[in-house]
Amino acid sequence: MILTTGGAGFIGSNFVLDWLAGSDEPVLNLDKLTYAGNLENLASLCADPRHVFVQGDIGDAAQVARLLAKHRPRAVVNFAAESHVDRSIHGPEDFIQTNIVGTYRLLESVRDYWSGLAAVEKSAFRFLHVSTDEVYGSLGRIDPPFSEANRYEPNSPYSASKAASDHLVRAWHRTYGLPALTTNCSNNYGPFHFPEKLIPLCIHNALAGKPLPIYGDGQQRRDWLYVGDHCSAIRRVLEAGQVGEVYNVGGGSEKANLEVVTTLCDMLDALNPRADGRSYREQIAFVADRPGHDRRYAIDAGKLERELGWKPVETFESGIRKTVCWYLDNQDWVRNVTSGAYRDWVGRQYGAQGGD
Ligand code: NAD
Ligand code: TYD
Repeated sequence: MILTTGGAGFIGSNFVLDWLAGSDEPVLNLDKLTYAGNLENLASLCADPRHVFVQGDIGDAAQVARLLAKHRPRAVVNFAAESHVDRSIHGPEDFIQTNIVGTYRLLESVRDYWSGLAAVEKSAFRFLHVSTDEVYGSLGRIDPPFSEANRYEPNSPYSASKAASDHLVRAWHRTYGLPALTTNCSNNYGPFHFPEKLIPLCIHNALAGKPLPIYGDGQQRRDWLYVGDHCSAIRRVLEAGQVGEVYNVGGGSEKANLEVVTTLCDMLDALNPRADGRSYREQIAFVADRPGHDRRYAIDAGKLERELGWKPVETFESGIRKTVCWYLDNQDWVRNVTSGAYRDWVGRQYGAQGGD
């Protein structure tokens, strides 16, 4: 079996669902169930013996050691993290604890388990660390996209904590020989995305008749990747990646935030028109910018394509259509995750400027 951490979050739950749709190899899923972890994402697996869920913290060395000894996974895929830049600005502590200290403790628990494996199992074992393109900092307007050789220049508490975790993974490979790999991926979107990030927040607010908050001038650029394509990249790296290597993952779909939001509005106008016949674009509201806001991310995923033959299947247009349709069809999911805690966050972040 494989062990996923953070497999009840956005990307992790998509990964677990995709994995079990394509393989009978069981998944042990360790997740702390923070505000971002949601077992409802995995409801279709509730009677499936191939999915074993355990609530717990990657930083709890005793629990992780027990789980490793009992289930003897052949690989660990580490999704567990605090992942929202704005939350990291308001309160970095959880990011330091999970993304840095938690990753360190997980690496130590896994190293201990891996050291005790027989030679064949030991060389086949893999630790795949799921990371972000944000560790490379911000690109200028005409800079080439980030390659694996770019310097690390993180600018937010979130990206700094992920950068630190990447360095730990690298060191655990170089120093102790742990067969680790790292993927640095661009912005994902798709089903089960918590409505605090740009795309699900704007779909949610549009349908609720609320403002669609655009930070600053809305000209910050991100490289968007449909989550299913990220999952296929992780599977491919796990299967055929070279240990010790880093692979950038991206969609080749660089867009300005304002363009993303107007695309969402136009799609909603077509699929779910407003009762008053006006466009959702009228709900767009420019709000104060994010401090230290990175201007541009773009990924060169050429290494992953050349060496492992991976390419995304979805274009931005096909992926965003699937995503909007999923949110329209799953309003109950959105209602359930927009709990009290979430509403408190929106109140703090957007104040009188909009949001819930
Ligand atoms: P998410 O916030 O939706 O989910 C994170 C999950 O980790 C949640 O289920 C949460 O309960 C769990 N978790 C948090 N702290 C934990 C701990 N200490 N122990 C165990 N579980 C814990 O995040 P996501 O968007 O699914 O991101 C998953 C990973 O992918 C993260 O490492 C993130 O940095 C990385 N990533 C995300 C994106 C993106 O666009 N969302 C892009 C590139 C990389
Ligand atoms: P986000 O989805 O938080 O991802 P990240 O910060 O990891 O890239 O934000 C994507 C972009 O959208 C980023 O440039 C910030 C911007 N943004 C807004 O303009 N308004 C919002 O309400 C949010 C949440 C993000």
